[in-house]
Amino acid sequence: MAQKDYTLLGESLLLYKGAVFALQHFENGIPEALEYLDSLKSFHIRDGDIFIMTFPKSGTIWMQYIVSILHENDHPDLLEKPTYFRVPWLEYLRPAHKIDTRESPRLFCSHLPQHMVPLDLQSNRAKIIYVTRNPKDILVSYFHFSQVLNTLETADNLDEMLENFLSGKILGGNWFDHIEGWFNNKDKYDILFVSYEEMKMDLRSVVMKISKFVGKILSDVDIDKVMDRVTFKNMKNDVKANYHNSVQGNVLDSSKGSFMRKGTVGDWKNFLTVAQSERFDQVYKERMKNLPVKVIWDQG
Ligand code: A3P
Repeated sequence: MAQKDYTLLGESLLLYKGAVFALQHFENGIPEALEYLDSLKSFHIRDGDIFIMTFPKSGTIWMQYIVSILHENDHPDLLEKPTYFRVPWLEYLRPAHKIDTRESPRLFCSHLPQHMVPLDLQSNRAKIIYVTRNPKDILVSYFHFSQVLNTLETADNLDEMLENFLSGKILGGNWFDHIEGWFNNKDKYDILFVSYEEMKMDLRSVVMKISKFVGKILSDVDIDKVMDRVTFKNMKNDVKANYHNSVQGNVLDSSKGSFMRKGTVGDWKNFLTVAQSERFDQVYKERMKNLPVKVIWDQG
């Protein structure tokens, strides 16, 4: 087996081909993990597969839950399963997910950058929903998340967190590369971009947009039901919807916080100093200037 180049970032993260993965999921060792990640390029896409793509902390779990609710009738066998099982991570798939024998449409989610996803996704036989979020809110969300998750190293302070974010030394890798890869190559895919901010502002419209995209016709009553189940409060109280009680072992330290932390827009303003925000803006301006699609969110 040829040696593959990778880098360990501290004790919990693996940098490979520009993406950063959680080592905790690779129980069979790094060489096997790298083989698996490379094999994803030829992962067999089935007609109608649906992929939720995000950078971590962008609202993945929220979209996973919405999309899985829309498909409950297709997967009655998965009804009692937690969200992360209903919509498993492509990069961390296990035999227990029995993905080959699942009914269509199969649902996946992934934090993979565009250059590492299955080539077959470009056949337009599968649909992709890409969720964006104001990166400053992602940064703040990640800072807290890393304190709650025992398997992630925590930055000592927000200065360190900011530098880790800007240099891509966090789960997911470099946010700028991630968004650039997906936006620059959007025409190769059947892809819908949705922002966390629009979900907060007008969830009904987003649920309608997603259901139309995945080919589900919903009545007003159906939409109301979905919306009720996916409010922040209801998801926080629903152990199947959130990760709080569901992740195996003692990976989450609930004494330090919750996966469902705040669920708001603009929380970065409560944490970043003016200097930190300006440092962020400087890099943001430079990195985003050539992006063909303007991302709309509250930068102010
Ligand atoms: P905060 O830490 O800002 O609260 P991911 O699933 O990609 O890791 O994203 C987690 C973020 O999405 C957390 O953000 C979490 O609170 C938020 N989130 C999850 N479900 C939500 C919901 N129903 N409404 C609003 N925000 C939600």
